[in-house]
Amino acid sequence: MSGQKTRQWVLTNPPSGDPVLSGSNATFTLKDTSLPALTTDQVLVKTLYLSNDPAQRGWIDAAADPERLYTAPVEKGEVMRAFGVAEVVESKADNLKVGQLVLATTGWSEYAVFNAKECRPVQPDEKAGIRPTHFVGALGGPGLTAYYGLIDVVGAKAEDAVVVSGAAGATGSMVVQIAKHIVGCKRIIGIAGGEKKCRWVESLGADVCVDYKSPTFKEDLKKATEGFVEVYFDNVGGEILELMLQRLKRHGRIAACGAVSTYNNLQGAGIKNWFEIITNRLQVKGFIVTDAIEAGKAPSMIQKIVEKIKEGKIKIGEDSETVVPTKFEDIPKTWTMLFSGGNQGKLVTKLET
Ligand SMILES: NC(=O)c1ccc[n+]([C@@H]2O[C@H](COP(=O)([O-])OP(=O)(O)OC[C@H]3O[C@@H](n4cnc5c(N)ncnc54)[C@H](OP(=O)(O)O)[C@@H]3O)[C@@H](O)[C@H]2O)c1
Repeated sequence: MSGQKTRQWVLTNPPSGDPVLSGSNATFTLKDTSLPALTTDQVLVKTLYLSNDPAQRGWIDAAADPERLYTAPVEKGEVMRAFGVAEVVESKADNLKVGQLVLATTGWSEYAVFNAKECRPVQPDEKAGIRPTHFVGALGGPGLTAYYGLIDVVGAKAEDAVVVSGAAGATGSMVVQIAKHIVGCKRIIGIAGGEKKCRWVESLGADVCVDYKSPTFKEDLKKATEGFVEVYFDNVGGEILELMLQRLKRHGRIAACGAVSTYNNLQGAGIKNWFEIITNRLQVKGFIVTDAIEAGKAPSMIQKIVEKIKEGKIKIGEDSETVVPTKFEDIPKTWTMLFSGGNQGKLVTKLET
């Protein structure tokens, strides 16, 4: 087969604020194209699931300075970059048969052509409850980020009390579970948006989860962190980070993982409580998970997570993902759910056929 036709979402107007979903200034445009014929060692894949990641917002920011980004930005006219789980539908590669599921940077494209080495074969395990979507969630970037950030970067130990923001999200919910079941932290405090999400985070192992949307949030957080805490795993930045700078113990440590509350307004982000870092000798450690992947650490981390899943400790049931059946035309809309708390656990787009 040659010249497979496909639809793709292309970046047309890099945003400086909220992504724009329609109109003349729309951030993305839907295009039709034909893919090249396969050559030796290539495969044609059909995208089944798309990973939705807050980081994608950073890759398309109008003011992004490529020299300061950890990865190349998506250029105007390029297909929107995204990780996906896809099925091999045609193969000229010996190691990838038709029907094999793979993890690849599919982008927002129905079909894509890859060199075999750009695809990682994945094997769902029904008996262990491991579904294809877990390879972009608990057993993908979010699980690895949680493990690497908590254990390697900030060095969480059993004697640490840990606060995790974005605790009901893909990464945060894994931080809570790794803190509980792998590190055995003495106290785990989640921060999430809304009563329902908070109770869910507690069901995963947090001693308490505080609702940042509640009018009593500041007092609730103060109470939950009485005596102060050793570690803060920051997924959200902004005002919650400001508050947490005041709730860390002397020599406390912060894993600076993300700042999702600021991604649609990066120019307005700033730290007012910087002085806390000095007076309380806080350590702030920024990190990017690809460093761990490139250092070959992923397989052993995944193995430890899978062990805890099989022991029934780390939970990856249906409530740990928000899988949204989505028409191809609605891919950007589903992605923006990340910025309004529309997901519990990993937000996955399931492409409708
Ligand atoms: N450093 C790395 O290598 C690395 C790798 C992966 C991810 N990350 C970062 O980790 C963070 C979480 O990513 P994820 O993929 O796991 O996404 P996620 O947490 O599953 O989804 C985003 C969540 O952020 C919360 N949120 C959105 N706007 C917010 C706001 N204004 N204030 C507070 N919370 C807000 C929402 O939860 P609520 O309903 O609770 O508000 C939403 O569900 C992001 O900052 C991401 O950039 C970093």
